[in-house]
Amino acid sequence: MAPLHLGLLATLGAHALALAFTRRASIASITDSEWDAFNATVSGRLRNGEPMLAPCYTRYNGEAQEPDLEQCSVLQKDGGDLTYATGQFGMYVNSQWGACQATGQTCTFGPIRPDILTPILDTCEQGSVPTKYVDAQSVEDVQRTLVFAGENSLRLVIKNTGHDYEGRSSAPDSLALWTHNMQPPIEFNEEFVPEGCSESGGDSITFGAGEQFGRIYDFVEARGYRIVGGSSITVGAAGGWITGGGHSLLTNELGLGVDNVQQLKAVLPNGTHVTANRCQNQDLFFALRGGGGGTFAVITEMTSRVYPKKEMQFVEISFANIGVGAQRRLMDIFVSNGEKWAAEGWGGYIYCFSIGTGIFIGTSLLNYDEAVESMKPLSDFATHLNIGVVNVTTTDSFRAGLQAFVETQEIGIFPGSAWALSSRIVKHDSFAPEKQQELSSILSNFLNVQQELLEPSLQILVLCLTMPAVYSQSMPESDLPGGPGHASISPHWRDGVWQALHFRAYSGSIKDPELVRKIAQNAHDAMNPLRAFTPDSGAYINEADPWEPDYINSFWGQENYERLLRIKREVDPENLLMVRKGVGWDENDGRFSCYPDVDES
Ligand SMILES: Cc1cc2nc3c(=O)[nH]c(=O)nc-3n(C[C@H](O)[C@H](O)[C@H](O)COP(=O)(O)OP(=O)(O)OC[C@H]3O[C@@H](n4cnc5c(N)ncnc54)[C@H](O)[C@@H]3O)c2cc1C
Ligand SMILES: *[C@@H]1O[C@H](CO)[C@@H](O)[C@H](O)[C@H]1NC(C)=O
Ligand SMILES: *[C@@H]1O[C@H](CO)[C@@H](O)[C@H](O)[C@H]1NC(C)=O
Ligand SMILES: *[C@@H]1O[C@H](CO)[C@@H](O)[C@H](O)[C@H]1NC(C)=O
Repeated sequence: MAPLHLGLLATLGAHALALAFTRRASIASITDSEWDAFNATVSGRLRNGEPMLAPCYTRYNGEAQEPDLEQCSVLQKDGGDLTYATGQFGMYVNSQWGACQATGQTCTFGPIRPDILTPILDTCEQGSVPTKYVDAQSVEDVQRTLVFAGENSLRLVIKNTGHDYEGRSSAPDSLALWTHNMQPPIEFNEEFVPEGCSESGGDSITFGAGEQFGRIYDFVEARGYRIVGGSSITVGAAGGWITGGGHSLLTNELGLGVDNVQQLKAVLPNGTHVTANRCQNQDLFFALRGGGGGTFAVITEMTSRVYPKKEMQFVEISFANIGVGAQRRLMDIFVSNGEKWAAEGWGGYIYCFSIGTGIFIGTSLLNYDEAVESMKPLSDFATHLNIGVVNVTTTDSFRAGLQAFVETQEIGIFPGSAWALSSRIVKHDSFAPEKQQELSSILSNFLNVQQELLEPSLQILVLCLTMPAVYSQSMPESDLPGGPGHASISPHWRDGVWQALHFRAYSGSIKDPELVRKIAQNAHDAMNPLRAFTPDSGAYINEADPWEPDYINSFWGQENYERLLRIKREVDPENLLMVRKGVGWDENDGRFSCYPDVDES
């Protein structure tokens, strides 16, 4: 009983620090002339928010409309190309977050392309797509939008690429700040010295809030460098990725995104533009690196370290139709080699379906022969079952090596694809020899769950070999707790060897709220055995399910959370930036009314 009481006290303590709750006004409370006056202050960049697929429909928000056939044929053709689609304000990569899941109001396609029937048979509804947005292109646009939203108590959303898995970049009846077009030319800085510092933090690049990894990779490669970045070329570097932590194929060797940031510039909720680094505004520097997307300030510019190119070994394998027994043997191989492979620098993804397993990993700590030797357990497995060979590909281009995985992701994401997921960081101690059998069995069971006929979703278990356990052993002192470069991610990350992600993929055309709720509930519940097996671990805020239990401990740990809460009260006393369960969360805020009603136990 005692620990329970202590936990309860800590929770009450946190609530005593809670923020003032401001009731939000509806977008409809602002008159046309007030909108026009505001529009003039943001250089005419105010727009009406509309779901991306709205031009295809004959009925939009309850009214008949003439479909825009030309625009619709572009959407049918290019809507699944994420580089194109993330350039559309009304697009959400996980389409359920563009919908209001609690009511079923949405505007989406089914899984078959082109989808001619849905737009004719169904109607398009606004769902959770913000009603108005500012296509921000300057610091001033960001400042004026924050001040306007604050003065009028509007519900404000920051949207970059719309990749978020938790609906933090959408909300009904809101004004959005769209950062996608904040893409000034990327700059290369040899021996970058952060403002106010006297020492260089190493070679770095500086880019705007809207920059995506594809362009960043191309930029650094052309100059002979590599950078710690995400697996998807369309994820935004300076938005959700960095504010959540940011993992990469290079994390075993070079750390997380937050470990590589040299400097951030950001606009505070009151409109002040500030610079944060290891020498000034360290509180904000701490909060913006792990505290959660859209919570403390709007990042306008980011400077991150780059490293000279290095030869890298990549391995891509798929084992299809190998049966339950062989799948289990494969999982035993993954688990028993987990720590060894991390120490050898292998980062990447193992994705397990009930019918087979795919592997995409890379390392720059081994040469070709060493990589072949390291993969021997997998080649022996393949030879034994006579299912091919394990090929190692050598390249000094990270981007070229990544291409195979980029293509794999593109197959799975199309307009209308919806993804419910849950996350767990798996730490060193779970790989102890006496625990391996149980870990392997729990992970294998993710895929053995009986699929209910009326809840059509595809189950996938992804093991992310992108955790910083190895890097953390040699972290610079300045970035340890108490140092000026300490980041607000939870301490669990620092012992993290893997992150286990459970996905349930379904069609966005499924809109019955009860069915959507069940799918989200199943994705949440499927993680419970692993949660129970790793009681002293956490989850990745960016890839967790929105109902993560004990989220304060999972995402930040109590100590980081208390510092974050203090910073939040200082920079955002009105709680203007508050998107979902997180620092400054208030469950009475109507913006969560579109979330499915999932049981959090
Ligand atoms: C296909 C896919 C692949 C992924 N791969 C990886 C990976 O390899 N590694 C990894 O770590 N994660 C990965 N993620 C998760 C990713 O980090 C999160 O989805 C992240 O939230 C995306 O950030 P965004 O800015 O691109 O998206 P958005 O949905 O636009 O924004 C996400 C959050 O960031 C906030 N935000 C956006 N811009 C700003 C800003 N300028 N200032 C302050 N807050 C801002 C938003 O308010 C929101 O809370 C992946 C996700 C997907 C869908
Ligand atoms: C804002 O002004 C621009 C330029 O005058 C105009 O094109 C745009 O439609 C206006 N936005 C809204 C929402 O009225
Ligand atoms: C491995 O490489 C060989 C020779 O290049 C090729 O024929 C084979 O298809 C590759 N195997 C896989 C699984 O990619
Ligand atoms: C804005 O907020 C910051 C942080 O609380 C504060 O230091 C600054 O003085 C404020 N600026 C204005 C103009 O109120």
